[in-house]
Amino acid sequence: MADDGCTRRAALKGVAGILALAATAAILALEQPSAQTQRAASPARELRPVTSFAGITNQRARSMALFEEMSKVLRHPRCMNCHPAGDHPTQTDAMRPHQPLVVRGTDGHGAPGLPCATCHHAANFDPAGIPGHANWRLAPASMAWQGRSGAQICAQIKDRARNGNRDLAELIRHLSEDSLVGWAWSPGLGRTPAPGTQAQFGDLAKAWVETGAQCPRA
Ligand code: HEC
Ligand code: HEC
Repeated sequence: MADDGCTRRAALKGVAGILALAATAAILALEQPSAQTQRAASPARELRPVTSFAGITNQRARSMALFEEMSKVLRHPRCMNCHPAGDHPTQTDAMRPHQPLVVRGTDGHGAPGLPCATCHHAANFDPAGIPGHANWRLAPASMAWQGRSGAQICAQIKDRARNGNRDLAELIRHLSEDSLVGWAWSPGLGRTPAPGTQAQFGDLAKAWVETGAQCPRA
């Protein structure tokens, strides 16, 4: 009898094993690495249009949702690399320390001996993989975003003491028209651009301000 029990258990284990295998196979089949699922897994490439938030009838909740969408850009490595916590920019999608270890300097343009413009020229230089802009420089320490939550970034971009003394209209203009911000969508060969377009990002910012510029809770 004991033997029988053992056999049955073994058989059951066998069945369980087969079921587990089948389940795994089913999951694997579902996760076929089609281009679609791969894109969904990597960071966002697109931005939702403002109209797609119309269904959120509570204005405060809609404003917060709009900011969450803006965060896909604000927290993208193309922006964050220039808004570090500390005196050094970071590089690449992994936001590694900048090589060489340059410093902000007094005005963001680097130390007198090694200004950013030594390497970063007026435009991207793709043969050497060096991004460029006429005013390439590091954001001031009061505008540090790395390591901050969405709520913290939201509070500080609205704070005139920390945002370059901009009111909300000027903030919208900066986000939607500033060409250094715009660089993030034309970052040069081999660099992932920020999601969507600068115009779409500007539309989200405008709608966020119009709904009260609410910040996420956490
Ligand atoms: C000695 C040359 C050199 C100097 C000086 C220099 N950089 Fe760079 N920087 C580079 C190169 C090369 C890259 C591209 C590295 C890569 O993408 O792998 C780069 C990339 C960057 C990036 C990353 C862009 C991104 O999102 O991929 C930022 C931000 C940056 N530099 C900021 C600065 C700032 C700010 C200064 C001045 C304080 C500065 N750099 C000074 C050579 C330099
Ligand atoms: C090459 C470096 C660089 C890149 C890239 C960059 N910024 Fe900045 N950012 C700066 C500097 C420098 C300032 C300060 C200049 C000023 O206030 O006009 C600044 C200021 C700002 C400000 C106003 C102050 C604040 O933090 O509240 C906002 C908002 C901003 N950047 C948004 C962005 C966004 C969004 C992106 C990416 C789409 C971005 N930046 C990419 C350098 C950069």
